[in-house]
Amino acid sequence: MALGIDVETLGIFEDLRRTHGSVVSIPQMNGRLAYFVNDADTVRQLLVKHHTGYKKGPGFERVKMLLGNGLIVSDGAVWRRSRRMIQPAFSRQNVHRLIALMVECTEIRASRWEKVAIAGGTLDITQEMSDFALELILRCIFGPDYESAILASGENPFAFLSKDSARDLRVVMQVRESRNLILSVIQARRAKQEQDEFDFLSIYLAAKDKNGEYFSDKELLDELITLIVAGYETSAGTLNWAWLMLALNSQAEACLLDEALRLSPDGEEIEQQAITDMTYTQQLLEETLRLYPPVWLFTRRATADDTFANFDVESGTDIYLSPYVLHRSEEYWPDPERFEPARFGADSVYKKGDRPYFPFSLGPRRCLGEYFSFLEMKVHLGLLVRKFRMTLVSKQNPEMELGINLRVQDSIVLRPELRDKS
Ligand code: HEM
Repeated sequence: MALGIDVETLGIFEDLRRTHGSVVSIPQMNGRLAYFVNDADTVRQLLVKHHTGYKKGPGFERVKMLLGNGLIVSDGAVWRRSRRMIQPAFSRQNVHRLIALMVECTEIRASRWEKVAIAGGTLDITQEMSDFALELILRCIFGPDYESAILASGENPFAFLSKDSARDLRVVMQVRESRNLILSVIQARRAKQEQDEFDFLSIYLAAKDKNGEYFSDKELLDELITLIVAGYETSAGTLNWAWLMLALNSQAEACLLDEALRLSPDGEEIEQQAITDMTYTQQLLEETLRLYPPVWLFTRRATADDTFANFDVESGTDIYLSPYVLHRSEEYWPDPERFEPARFGADSVYKKGDRPYFPFSLGPRRCLGEYFSFLEMKVHLGLLVRKFRMTLVSKQNPEMELGINLRVQDSIVLRPELRDKS
């Protein structure tokens, strides 16, 4: 699903920012002006201070066809109610209980990669990351029902999401078909006397709003589909770029390996603290997200008149904000195209809040899965980097594709080699 903006257009926006400043007005077919905002303070104003005056903007009608009215697309009272009900599911305590699943899904990859390494083969890392992140989110949502109900037909009914990067009508129809399967899992869970599972589905089923009401089947379906799509594509994309950065930067790989070797050194269970201690890996992921933010463009529509950066904005005006453009702006980031994880080190000046950095958005609509995704990505990289050394087989500078998410046009291909061949 394209949003009508391609890589060249982004280049034009970058030039516009350089020549016309941080807020650019663009005439639209309907006679109104739209605004492309490239200024750190205005971004904060829009996403944080004045967020109640904006709803999701152009492109979201089409996302709605895919996700229904789940958290990412809903607005106003519907969004507020769902966010309050769902937010507790993402508490640190709950996410920590999912670490074992993160390890399990990583180990499934490790044993596959080991066979490939022994045979001297290569890995389509883009596909591997999609499969990894999709399997993980499905296991986290459905718990034991992933194997007993979701995979009951022998195939993963959501595999089309990771095989087909298009988000066109065909995919919309496939998602609609999968709703029946999810509905049957929901109904079986509702009918159970004892709820002893720990997974997102059980938490969502138990969530109540302030009037004591639960989610209806339709609401639950929309929220679960939203969680599947939001929870896998972004993490998969980030890991894909992170593997490329590691294959291209031997120093970064050495620092990550050093940290990874300290993660459960005697093979014991990985403690949450050990993952928290992976500060270099955190920096590497933050720098990867600076250069390759999966949600590269946010759109908003004003629901009230507003004023920003000396512009009077009428209700109904469309606004575009791009983490991709701002994260690469030389005004805020010296040598912005350079991959340099140390920018995010503890003694770096970058975290002081004056630089625009918002891969997970800002304010009340900030991503709910941020903590989950960092844990997932750190477990994944930590366990696999200490086992495999990777060499890049595909291009050093893969072309980007700007759909709903920023993706690579052609897969990144790596050759895995076992570090310890004994
Ligand atoms: C690197 C990984 C991720 C990135 C970069 C990311 C980024 C984002 C961004 C930018 C938004 C806001 C979009 C907008 O306002 O237009 C968002 C919303 C959301 N994300 Fe993520 N996300 C990631 C991973 C996840 C994961 C793993 C989950 C779930 C397990 C998740 C669940 C959500 C949900 C539910 C929302 C909607 C929040 C709301 O509107 O209240 N995300 N994400």
